[in-house]
Amino acid sequence: MSTHDAYFCELQAALQAEGELLPRLIVDLDRLDHNIDQAVAFAARAGKTLRLVEKSLPSFELLDYIARRAGTRRLMSFHQPFLTLDAQHWPDADILLGKPMPVALVERFYHSLTGAFDPQRQLQWLIDSPERLQQYLVLAQQRGIRLNVNLELDVGLHRGGIAQGEAGTRMLRELLRTIEQHPQHLAFTGFMGYEPHVAMLPRLFGAPERLLAQAMATYQARVEQVQREVPALWAQALAAVGQPPLILNTAGSPTYRLHEQEQVSNELALGSGLLKPTHFDLPSLAGHLPALFVATPVLKTADALTLPGAGPLPAFVSRLAGRGKQVLFIYGGNWLADPVSPAGLTASKLYGTSSNQQVLLAPADTALQVDDLVFMRPTQSEAVLLQFGDLLAVRAGRVVGHWPVFANQ
Ligand SMILES: Cc1ncc(COP(=O)(O)O)c(C=O)c1O
Repeated sequence: MSTHDAYFCELQAALQAEGELLPRLIVDLDRLDHNIDQAVAFAARAGKTLRLVEKSLPSFELLDYIARRAGTRRLMSFHQPFLTLDAQHWPDADILLGKPMPVALVERFYHSLTGAFDPQRQLQWLIDSPERLQQYLVLAQQRGIRLNVNLELDVGLHRGGIAQGEAGTRMLRELLRTIEQHPQHLAFTGFMGYEPHVAMLPRLFGAPERLLAQAMATYQARVEQVQREVPALWAQALAAVGQPPLILNTAGSPTYRLHEQEQVSNELALGSGLLKPTHFDLPSLAGHLPALFVATPVLKTADALTLPGAGPLPAFVSRLAGRGKQVLFIYGGNWLADPVSPAGLTASKLYGTSSNQQVLLAPADTALQVDDLVFMRPTQSEAVLLQFGDLLAVRAGRVVGHWPVFANQ
């Protein structure tokens, strides 16, 4: 008889005790603690600071919880409305943008800024090109402010930023010159070099160790270029008087654990891996536990798959496709998530998908009744977290918190 194992039985009981029969996202705090502790211990070993990737954990309760346990106030933000919320909610945060913002959104951020957050000491904008830096400079001059500039490096991902090779050397030179010439309005505060390809590419494209060594050699060369060509800017970034500390950011969940030896970066970004959706089932994250699940009730069951249509063909195809299966219609569906419990659940490609009542095929001996729950693992966290209303925080078989997520704006 196929049913939930002890872990999912306990989760189901926890939700049923709450009368929880809506599709819900569950965060398992015991598992999250384990993942946070893994990351903290690793960062201590590697001598680096952790920065939380806010878009992958878009709930202040969740971010607060992780930040407290991890002992960091550093956030990486990717979305102007979220950045504005971060500055209000965490007036003591140290925020680095994870992607370059159109200058109009930078303006919007300053316009909407309230409270104690001080961008000049606490916020670094990410700059990917001389053209964008010029736009930011004009804004800084107009507003009479100074903007902190963290420069995006292409260390092999090829998603923009300062390219590898001679063209990149020239671009960095131009960027640094602009910053140097406008000390009242621009400050150099470091680099960001993101390198998920190191862990994601098939080995045919290069072993992770080799790709990481290449990425960090590029990074090191850019650091040395600043030290050599504009030592005053480097010294100012190191001294960090009236501006954020020098940030040499790298990594993300897929690669953070590969950075134990390299001495170039001083901080690691990390988000999704703390919840470990399925895209992060990677060898480098083998020590992390899945901590995020969709739970949704079964609305209807059927002993056999019956495809719509007239004549003998639909009946024949139904028999073939539904051999040894029963059918579950669930509340909702079509999420970026894969069924995980009970074992053996699959979506039916033939029946098609539905956001309203998705069909799942289950082994014929699956002992689920109407109103029992099925569980799925999201493939990613950033989009899925915004789709279910409050997160349910669960610990030791009990729901211990309803955590609102950011408004999807
Ligand atoms: C610049 C940058 N750093 C880090 C990350 C890592 O985020 P996560 O740990 O959630 O994969 C991302 C993800 O998109 C990113 O774009």
